[in-house]
Amino acid sequence: MQTKHVMIVEPVGLIADALPKPINWVELFGNANPVELEIGMGKGTFLTEQAVARPDVNFFGIEWANWYWRYASDRLRRHGCANARTVRAEAHFFLRENVPDASLNVLHIYFPDPWPKAKQKKRRLVQDNFVPTMHRILAPGGRVQIVTDHKGYFEENIDPTLRASGLTLIDYNRPGSASEGEFVGTNFERKYRREGRPFYALAARKD
Ligand SMILES: C[S@@+](CC[C@H](N)C(=O)[O-])C[C@H]1O[C@@H](n2cnc3c(N)ncnc32)[C@H](O)[C@@H]1O
Repeated sequence: MQTKHVMIVEPVGLIADALPKPINWVELFGNANPVELEIGMGKGTFLTEQAVARPDVNFFGIEWANWYWRYASDRLRRHGCANARTVRAEAHFFLRENVPDASLNVLHIYFPDPWPKAKQKKRRLVQDNFVPTMHRILAPGGRVQIVTDHKGYFEENIDPTLRASGLTLIDYNRPGSASEGEFVGTNFERKYRREGRPFYALAARKD
């Protein structure tokens, strides 16, 4: 008989509607450590590897897809990541509603959905209307890091948006958990690498 794997979301996975607006990170994590937030963490590979490797940093993940959110939250719980929390939410809405001003050290966006069809492009996360949000939530000296495999998304939105954002372009900072030759080491990166796709990475700092 096949045993069904039951995923337990709490205490990592939080209900977005139950969180204060804005969130108080010190109360949420029980310490004043710096906070890094990942949008669309999928199965949570990056978040888990980072949370395990850097216990003095707090990690927060936002994921829209219920199955991925539960999977990533359970994975973080199984790894004993007391420094990680997640919510199931639409990221831009959640950032606007719940994330306090000047409170993030790093905003991680890895392989965001490219919405390739002409009629869908307005759904892309990184575009002009995302700039005020990045400015508001990043702490002084905080940075945003973006990696994509989608040339169109990079050339039409990510690159021009960051260049015109008023943030300072900086070298992309490869996380220590990335394996040889990887930009980040997420599930999608590993899958796309096997397919031989090129990647595009950009980072910018709020001065
Ligand atoms: C292509 S996958 C990449 C997942 C992961 N970052 C990786 O590299 O393996 C994009 C993920 O972002 C999530 N996502 C897309 N748009 C989102 C949004 N507006 N808010 C929250 N999550 C979103 C999707 O559900 C999906 O899990």
